[in-house]
Amino acid sequence: MSTRPLAADQTSSDEPARARGDADPLGLDPGTMRDLGHWLVDRVVDHFERGGEGPAIRTGTPQDLMAALGGPVPRAPGDPLAELRTLADVALSHMQHGDHPRYFARVPGPSSFAGVLGDWLGTGFNAIATSWAGGSGPAAVELVVLGWLGSLLGLSPAADGVITSGGSIANLTALVAARDATGPGVFYLSDQAHESIDRALRAIGVPEHDVRVLASDRDLRLPPDAVAAAVSEDRARGRRPGFVVATAGTVNAGAVDPLPALAELCRREDLWLHVDGAYGAPAALCDAGRAALRGLELADSLTLDPHKWLFQPYDAGCLFVQRPGALEAAFAFNPEYLVDTVAGAGEVNFRDRSLELTRRSRALKLWLTFRTYGADRIATAIARGLALAEHAEQRLHADDRWRVVTPAQLGIVTFELPGATPTEHRRRAAALAADGHAVVTSTEVHGRPVLRLCTINPRTTEADIDSTIERLATVRA
Ligand SMILES: Cc1ncc(COP(=O)(O)O)c(C=O)c1O
Repeated sequence: MSTRPLAADQTSSDEPARARGDADPLGLDPGTMRDLGHWLVDRVVDHFERGGEGPAIRTGTPQDLMAALGGPVPRAPGDPLAELRTLADVALSHMQHGDHPRYFARVPGPSSFAGVLGDWLGTGFNAIATSWAGGSGPAAVELVVLGWLGSLLGLSPAADGVITSGGSIANLTALVAARDATGPGVFYLSDQAHESIDRALRAIGVPEHDVRVLASDRDLRLPPDAVAAAVSEDRARGRRPGFVVATAGTVNAGAVDPLPALAELCRREDLWLHVDGAYGAPAALCDAGRAALRGLELADSLTLDPHKWLFQPYDAGCLFVQRPGALEAAFAFNPEYLVDTVAGAGEVNFRDRSLELTRRSRALKLWLTFRTYGADRIATAIARGLALAEHAEQRLHADDRWRVVTPAQLGIVTFELPGATPTEHRRRAAALAADGHAVVTSTEVHGRPVLRLCTINPRTTEADIDSTIERLATVRA
């Protein structure tokens, strides 16, 4: 493909001036736009087809990357194709590829092509999902998607939802809504709760004495008895117990807190139950995951991250609140200059459900994903992630060099080299990542150093897992 200089007018004279861009200093002629767009589509499809042949991670030095990407402010027009190539070849080739079949670290992001298409379309149209008056189509798509997700998760049809940028913001939004709805009180969570909870509590000014971090049990779960005891203790001291924050899929080990028992305790004690299922909750779409996540539907508020296990490109988080109106009560926002956009009956202004005013439509990609693949195929893709972790666990059990520390739970397994020094796991993980073959996490469970695989990418094969475990055992670290 030939590239065209930005300023040239190469369109035929019967094309409208607006498309030719002669009045628009930022205009590109339609032929150039199409050529660039086609190049970009080809490049992304190549990534989907052959990305797995390249490294799962590559990290550049600040000097090299700044030299390749930086320089003085570009004053004159450049060649957009050459610059696109620079972005793809330099910037995008130096990162963790969360969609690579051997990217097992932290929480992978195995995005689907339908999700990418939906995101592109929304970006191309500069879709906005702020108010019904200003974006009724995208708002309707968001309501539809939230309805589908809520019903697949077994939530009440009356649950309100909002799509966020990710799990951290969904958790923050939930905690604000919960505190607004019920007033200040003590939060109870386990030592396995995600850091984003602690950060959100600090950000919204919850005093330290209102945060009770309780020891998890040997299965890394929040023990309901310990919560009950802490609640009684706090009541006796004149404190007001307010909220339990449970986790459905801890990031370290995939543990699920005992949701039915915690929900019963919350009902009895009149506490708000927030469930952080950022990575784990989507597993409820398949039979095996639903069994592990029993009680999820009892949450007052529930976080999940479509950009993790619902195959969406970054970014997409989601929050449901099953106390109707609580989100709007906390966030509704109607200054005088937005009076023309107040929502009418049956309309939703999503700006009233979180801190975001201008919001992109993250629901478009989810809608297209569900319409393209159907919920059953998505559930099959999720179930594959569960099965892959079980395969990894069996493979580790069959190999004397390794000891399984936590079993396969919601697509995560942790393991150790018996007798390894505390830094050895870390060195092995780093050595494995150095040549890009695979990326795993080194972490700790209850203070014990472990290696960890998170296997939620449906494009991963059993051979990918076997070769990763073998290399981890033999790599020079
Ligand atoms: C349990 C849990 N909660 C919250 C988060 C934060 O989500 P995000 O990175 O989308 O902000 C994560 C991320 O891994 C998580 O696993």
